[in-house]
Amino acid sequence: MASVTSLSDSVQQHLASALSATRPEAAGADPLLRRSDRADYQANGILALAKKAKANPRELAAEVVSHVVTGDELIKDVEVSGPGFLNITIADRAITANLAARYADPERLGVPVAANPGTTVIDYAQPNVAKEMHVGHLRSAVIGDSVVQLLEFTGETVVRRHHIGDWGTQFGMLIQYLDEHPHELDHKSSEDGAISGEEAMSNLDRLYKTARKLFDSDEEFKTRSRRRVVDLQAGDAHTLSIWQKFVDESKIYFFSVFEKLDMEIRDADIVGESGYNDMLAETCRLLEDKGVAVRSEGALCVFFEDVLGPDGKQVPLIVQKSDGGYGYAATDLSAIRDRVFHLKADTLLYVVDARQALHFKMVFETARRAGWLGEDVKAVQLAFGTVLGKDGKPFKTREGETVKLVDLLDEAIDRASAVVREKAQDLSEEEIAERGTQVGVGAVKYADLSTSANRDYKFDLDQMVSLNGDTSVYLQYAYARIRSILRKAPEGVRPSAHPELALHEAERALGLHMDAFAETVADAAREYAPHKLAAYLYQLASLYTSFYDKCPVLKAESPDQVANRLFLCDITARTLHRGMALLGIRTPERL
Ligand code: ARG
Repeated sequence: MASVTSLSDSVQQHLASALSATRPEAAGADPLLRRSDRADYQANGILALAKKAKANPRELAAEVVSHVVTGDELIKDVEVSGPGFLNITIADRAITANLAARYADPERLGVPVAANPGTTVIDYAQPNVAKEMHVGHLRSAVIGDSVVQLLEFTGETVVRRHHIGDWGTQFGMLIQYLDEHPHELDHKSSEDGAISGEEAMSNLDRLYKTARKLFDSDEEFKTRSRRRVVDLQAGDAHTLSIWQKFVDESKIYFFSVFEKLDMEIRDADIVGESGYNDMLAETCRLLEDKGVAVRSEGALCVFFEDVLGPDGKQVPLIVQKSDGGYGYAATDLSAIRDRVFHLKADTLLYVVDARQALHFKMVFETARRAGWLGEDVKAVQLAFGTVLGKDGKPFKTREGETVKLVDLLDEAIDRASAVVREKAQDLSEEEIAERGTQVGVGAVKYADLSTSANRDYKFDLDQMVSLNGDTSVYLQYAYARIRSILRKAPEGVRPSAHPELALHEAERALGLHMDAFAETVADAAREYAPHKLAAYLYQLASLYTSFYDKCPVLKAESPDQVANRLFLCDITARTLHRGMALLGIRTPERL
């Protein structure tokens, strides 16, 4: 389907030609068009232009106005206001015709793809093997998934990488423990081997805790565990086979959580830290050969002038430890080589906790010095803030432990089901359960996506499932209400656009807002900012509510008016549905 030129772009073009018709030096000047409260749009660019041309701004503005074509095709009216602004009113016909063109493209609603799409490798949803997923992993998964949807929608080639923590020192300890207590993992599984995600996690958790205790208290076990790390990195077959058990058990758990999150994670995209093992030695050799890394007290280190410890000494990025083991940094540097040279990424995006910002700063800088990140490759950490409890402190259980992601989702689903049940009119128990899940999971995702990622946010379930305010439930109800109106349309009356009809103020506001959908999606994708889309959708639902309050739909005065308002309802529903899908949130037909 052809993309639709937005009204604001058309107005922008009209003003640009009026400007160049006015004076040659005005050609190419930005009219600085904005949505406005006084008119539909306001153009402020003439002020700067007048200053440059040493002209009187109001006179120049009047001159420009005389060159603007008005009528009912696009600009109905344009007038000079204030010190030399232009106030622009769009013709009703143009608003309806624009929406009709979008309506004819149900998949994309006329949203164009980006002019020069590239390849982005996005690193997100990266839990750690043998560890419980926590709210931080939730953020990475939720934000990452939305950014994937947004980027793909704009035509970007997206390669997903789930950089799970499946390698490193802690595995020495786990493997050693399981080797010394060989039945600790398998005897808990049921006979046919099929266990739930929850069981898998509780097996792993118990094993992790016991092994950890031993590791912290028993020096000899510690030494044996450390030797295991080296065996693991050397690819010792027996060691690897035990390691694989941990990975497999963990994946059962991960997939159960991602499924609960209603999120598609593909096994092939799970390339954890272990996936770069074969590259680590070479990465270190290259860094040393290039002089980017140097040996310091036996370890291979990269130094930075501006990364200092409390004692004022430089704190290095350690690529290889003095015992020969490789760490988190060596893996990330190898992953960069893979993503740039093999996956041909021109953008590397990391959806990772803000507390890892220094790590990424050092890793990116190292890769730049090594020539792996050229000027044509962008590397960005989409850093997210901490999830806080109601008390404003990092989210913990009463006992001070990290909250299990699964418990948290289950609680959200319970609360949401209660809300759905209370409002439900004609829903069966089964439907209540299904909607409760969609509303609960949506609430958690939306709360995460509706504030800008780098900010901390309070995890407050009461607020999240509230029907009033900026919540997904509010948006889901708005959608369901529209769908219900559409179902109630009289026999034979289909939603259809009637550009000849004059529009009510509330209809105009709704229509002009929908015209901005494409621009919002483009901004949100370019800036990796799902919260901009969330804010847009919330405003859309609010504008719809005021339209619905002021303009009778099924009882409108003429059949054409009914059809046109049903059309406005329908395109609002489609925009909400599309937008929510880009946030990874379902819009049930009935609530
Ligand atoms: N597994 C890590 C954690 O739980 C996040 C991995 C982030 N990605 C990366 N390439 N370092 O904190």
